[in-house]
Amino acid sequence: MIQIAIMGLGTVGTGVAKVVAENAKQIERKLGEPLQVKTILVRNFKDGPYRQLMTDDFKKIEEDGDIRVVVETIGGVEAAYEYTKRALEAGKHVVTANKQLVAEKGAELLALARKKNVNYLFEASVGGGIPILHPLTQCMAANRIDEVYGILNGTTNYILTRMVRTGAFFSDALREAQAKGYAEADPTADVEGIDAGRKTCILADLAFGHQVDPAEVPMEGITKLSLRDVKIAQRAGYRVKLLGRAVRLPGGGRTAYVAPHLIPEEHPLANVEDVFNAVVVKGNATGEVMFYGKGAGELPTASACVADVMECLQASPKRDEIGWSPDTTGFEDPQELHTRYYFRIEGSLTDAAMAFGQVEVLSEDGETAFLTDRISGQDAHQQSKFLNVLACMRVLA
Ligand code: HSE
Repeated sequence: MIQIAIMGLGTVGTGVAKVVAENAKQIERKLGEPLQVKTILVRNFKDGPYRQLMTDDFKKIEEDGDIRVVVETIGGVEAAYEYTKRALEAGKHVVTANKQLVAEKGAELLALARKKNVNYLFEASVGGGIPILHPLTQCMAANRIDEVYGILNGTTNYILTRMVRTGAFFSDALREAQAKGYAEADPTADVEGIDAGRKTCILADLAFGHQVDPAEVPMEGITKLSLRDVKIAQRAGYRVKLLGRAVRLPGGGRTAYVAPHLIPEEHPLANVEDVFNAVVVKGNATGEVMFYGKGAGELPTASACVADVMECLQASPKRDEIGWSPDTTGFEDPQELHTRYYFRIEGSLTDAAMAFGQVEVLSEDGETAFLTDRISGQDAHQQSKFLNVLACMRVLA
């Protein structure tokens, strides 16, 4: 019998307990022994099927030699960081879905895991149930990764889909996403692009091998997005999606950011809807490879956690290929990137043409919506300085 502990019994922690119980036979067949949740760390005791396993004392996990893997689903940094360090110090593997902790402290925790000859695995931290970190670091290991981009937040994709398809209000769609267990405890992290930003940092860390500090990554969510722009874009053959992008720059540097984008309707990301996420990885040998699936929710995310638990138990000694350097030099402002830009201005086509030269007009009715040629972020800013800009987004092309 292999015993594990779960820290935190929210959406993902509960999912992990359920997957371990419901898929016990498949898991046992693959591990050669039954897997059992022995202890669950909680802040407040709750009645229910796991009541007997609950403790509010981390030492019960830390000092229990029978517990080989700890699943951290507390979220946030403080307690999660402390308990993760202590569990690794105690020689236990740690598995997590906590993107904030991995984005901020991943390099340090991986170094500690390496020192203690255990694993720190976090497949569930990006893309929920989609296998993306293992393929990126293992299956695509022979490539130079030039770019990773995609729809990385299920809550905002769900909200946008509901608003566009059924005309739902933002607040109602957000409430639904919360009820379905997609949103973070504080949904500000979802709607302001911070959750997608943390996931973008993890993808960038692994793709480029250097720490990307979340504080340096511009993150814009969907709260300032107007349905008017979504409709103009749709009529012109585009969809609007919140994208995270991590890009290797021609000079050797790298950059990352999160923002709403116009996506041509024939692009595979354009039809990724509801809670689904999709991540595109551009390798210099493979070209573009896309990963698609449910990006949030109890069981998809738990599936990735439990697979990591099983990997810890099967992979001995620890795997080496997951990791990156804590050196953050070489990170550049995403304004360096050249893309087409969508603008909606209070003004005429003449105003737009005076600022940008030739533009592609999408709509003209007092306000003018148009697309520029490919320009840098600095030029987009500089050339629109004298316009009354009502909306501005990059175009994925
Ligand atoms: N709140 C996150 C989302 C959960 O909506 O994508 C999965 O990381």
